[in-house]
Amino acid sequence: MNQSLSPWRMSVAPMMDWTDRHCRYFHRLLSRHALLYTEMVTTGALLHGDVARHLRFNAEEYPLALQLGGSEPADLAHCARLGAQWGYDEINLNCGCPSERVRRGAFGACLMKEPALVADCVKAMVDAVDLPVTVKHRIGIDRAQSYAFVRDFVGTVADAGCRVFIVHARNAWLQGLSPKQNREVPPLRYEVVHQLKRDFPHLAIVVNGGISTLDQMAAQLQHLDGVMVGREAYHNPWFLAGWDAAFHGASAGASTRESVEADMVAYMEREAAAHGTPWYAIARHMLGLRNGLPGARPWRQVWSDHRLKLLPAREVQALAHGAVRKAA
Ligand SMILES: Cc1cc2nc3c(=O)[nH]c(=O)nc-3n(C[C@H](O)[C@H](O)[C@H](O)COP(=O)(O)O)c2cc1C
Repeated sequence: MNQSLSPWRMSVAPMMDWTDRHCRYFHRLLSRHALLYTEMVTTGALLHGDVARHLRFNAEEYPLALQLGGSEPADLAHCARLGAQWGYDEINLNCGCPSERVRRGAFGACLMKEPALVADCVKAMVDAVDLPVTVKHRIGIDRAQSYAFVRDFVGTVADAGCRVFIVHARNAWLQGLSPKQNREVPPLRYEVVHQLKRDFPHLAIVVNGGISTLDQMAAQLQHLDGVMVGREAYHNPWFLAGWDAAFHGASAGASTRESVEADMVAYMEREAAAHGTPWYAIARHMLGLRNGLPGARPWRQVWSDHRLKLLPAREVQALAHGAVRKAA
């Protein structure tokens, strides 16, 4: 492993309902060095809900960052402390999510309009834990194109002790777009992120949004400290298997898709025995594993067939292999 590389050089984005601990275990089999993020966990969920359910993870997932959603400095400090106690490597604050639910709770992307409040939140977390406290945000709100807006946001939050900014390179339109549209419709403007790095060379600046090839990652790494990938990593997970060799000077993360599938079946068996987790709660994250190979579709159909849900994972695997052979 090359110790001199930034820990933020390559990462998989926080994605609600997707990057749960099972998904992260799977992604770790594909890349040993990618930094993995949890789904966003709100301060409310940790203050009033089942902490273990939200924070539990497998030791294999390291390096691992906890993303928090909230806007109350004391609550965020408390939750950051919980994250440190549970063993996370980093606490990340979500200032980029435009969803309705998040907006009503006054956190997510709308926080970009209140840099002083974000600075208070960051300061409270920095004071509470010895871990890096990082912020994920957009380049603007609604239609405003002013670079000064995002520059001042980063400057203010950096003054409070944040050294790492993960920038989704498009605006968040708080009116009229669904969260999904907000990841597709506002145009990507990578040059804004590059300008941030030029203006704040001492900060780690990580770009996110619309990146789906090794070449695109390499091109961004010419300018920036890191690249975060969301949807492409989830839908085409074999993409991750090229990351360690391409960007970490390490041998490839995983040898074959079959070996990853076999490791996942062993994990499904352990999870079923230890926690009663059904195989399909885990398998749903690996359905794209064979994308691009012959038989990918029948393989995926078997692994997503809920009529098989009473079968042990190993038998489902055998059926999936049979389906691939039949399609060949
Ligand atoms: C299903 C889904 C859930 C997401 N949930 C979160 C989240 O919890 N926190 C967050 O900061 N971003 C969330 N995002 C946004 C991603 O982290 C990322 O910023 C976005 O998808 C753009 O990157 P990409 O083009 O590489 O996918 C989510 C995206 C998707 C597709």
